[in-house]
Amino acid sequence: MVPRSFASLALTILSLVGFLATASAQNPASASQTLSNGLGIAINVPDNSTDTLFLNFRLPSRGVGWAAFGIGSGMSDSLMFVVYPNTTNGLTVSPRTTTGHSMPEHDSDVTFILLPESGIVNGSFVVRGMCVGCRTWGGSNSIDTTSGNQPMIWAMGPAGSVESDDLNANINIHQQKGVFEIDMRTASGTPGVPSGGGPFAGKSTAIKVHAILALITFVILLPAGYALLRLLDKVLIHAGVQTLAFIFVTASIGLGIIASKNQGISPNINAPHQVIGLIAFVFMFLAVILGAVGHAIYRRTQQPWKFMISHRIFGPAAMGLGTANCISGFRFAGYTRPIIGFIVVVVVIWVAILALVLLKRRKQMRKTGPMNTPAAMNFREGQAQQQSGWYGQQPGVTPQGHGPAIPLQNYQQPGAPPMYK
Ligand code: HEM
Ligand SMILES: *[C@@H]1O[C@H](CO)[C@@H](O)[C@H](O)[C@H]1NC(C)=O
Ligand SMILES: *[C@@H]1O[C@H](CO)[C@@H](O)[C@H](O)[C@H]1NC(C)=O
Ligand SMILES: *[C@@H]1O[C@H](CO)[C@@H](O)[C@H](O)[C@H]1NC(C)=O
Repeated sequence: MVPRSFASLALTILSLVGFLATASAQNPASASQTLSNGLGIAINVPDNSTDTLFLNFRLPSRGVGWAAFGIGSGMSDSLMFVVYPNTTNGLTVSPRTTTGHSMPEHDSDVTFILLPESGIVNGSFVVRGMCVGCRTWGGSNSIDTTSGNQPMIWAMGPAGSVESDDLNANINIHQQKGVFEIDMRTASGTPGVPSGGGPFAGKSTAIKVHAILALITFVILLPAGYALLRLLDKVLIHAGVQTLAFIFVTASIGLGIIASKNQGISPNINAPHQVIGLIAFVFMFLAVILGAVGHAIYRRTQQPWKFMISHRIFGPAAMGLGTANCISGFRFAGYTRPIIGFIVVVVVIWVAILALVLLKRRKQMRKTGPMNTPAAMNFREGQAQQQSGWYGQQPGVTPQGHGPAIPLQNYQQPGAPPMYK
């Protein structure tokens, strides 16, 4: 046993050394950088030329119409490479420059040659190529091939914006953009396409948990909380479930903000998905506070709070905005496949709940005034006037100019305890 395993160990070491020797003989020199949004770039400065670079660039392509990186610190001083699908399942890589914040235009002094294994691969733009006339551009700009912090930029455009073989194709303005640096000190040497800048970064855990918490909230918790109130009159359980939903949303938004900042996904939090999410969060906060205040006032005074209607405005508004924002979130992530299923599930759930609520109301209208548990009345405060039209004619129910149309026996006896179930 001992000699054998020694022999195999020796063999392993020998082959490893052999592999490393051949690998270092063949591997192109490389300077690389990866960003947490999935961008990876590697640059090779070949030692057999003075104007050529080899490049390996990749960026997730889902929901992204065009991707670009540039050598330089801003649009106006950079040599940009704009990448978009061509008309035959490949890529067009267009070297471009601009003098300001306007669409960069093709620079015909620069030639980019796409090499094999490029294309849209596994949900990413993959660009492997050689670029001739790339080390200086626009008269006065150049790459510093020895710099420890060569400035670079990147950008990506909205989904489906361009598919063309034309190097001059029009592109829509970026939906995201950013700057980064690359340490060029290892870039010079053996020529060739450098290996890519690290593994693809998928969706981060933070974003996944962000989405799962939001979906649980808007698909399950909030509809359940509503159903518990309207179908079972369980006010305290309603309050508990909606408060839990608020905690989920708070955690979800927190993770969304952290991920946006850390991964440069619209880090100024000004994309519609982010803004609508924050508005829904504020509405939900108000709904929880107003519900609690209204309930506390009711317990003290045994009278419905006259502003309880505000709870019934902010609550449903938060649900509506948040649910719509789930759709915008899928689009924001470039992950549009689940949208139809999401809409179907949400519509089925709400149609079922609202149908049951309507049925229940009909039934209760036939019996006399069973909806007037004190808490239910408190929550319905403000509905009475609209409703009086529906059943004002029914025997035993007298519409009054103000206040609920159903007699409120329990509630009008000051001593009666609230009838919570
Ligand atoms: C239709 C094409 C484009 C238009 C109209 C455009 C327009 C603009 C505008 C108006 C700004 C400043 C506003 C802001 O900061 O949000 C900007 C900034 C920026 N753009 Fe573009 N852009 C285009 C393409 C590109 C491309 C291809 C890149 C390639 C990487 C890029 C990278 C950047 C970066 C990094 C910034 C921030 C740094 C800077 O101000 O230069 N843009 N762009
Ligand atoms: C330098 O070497 C690389 C790899 O062998 C080759 O592809 C490239 O064409 C060469 N460049 C020049 C300018 O000779
Ligand atoms: C589009 O890309 C494919 C794959 O790289 C390539 O074979 C094809 O020639 C390109 N089409 C045009 C018109 O350049
Ligand atoms: C695409 O992804 C699959 C699964 O992760 C992997 O097995 C495959 O090798 C990838 N293909 C390429 C070309 O990277």
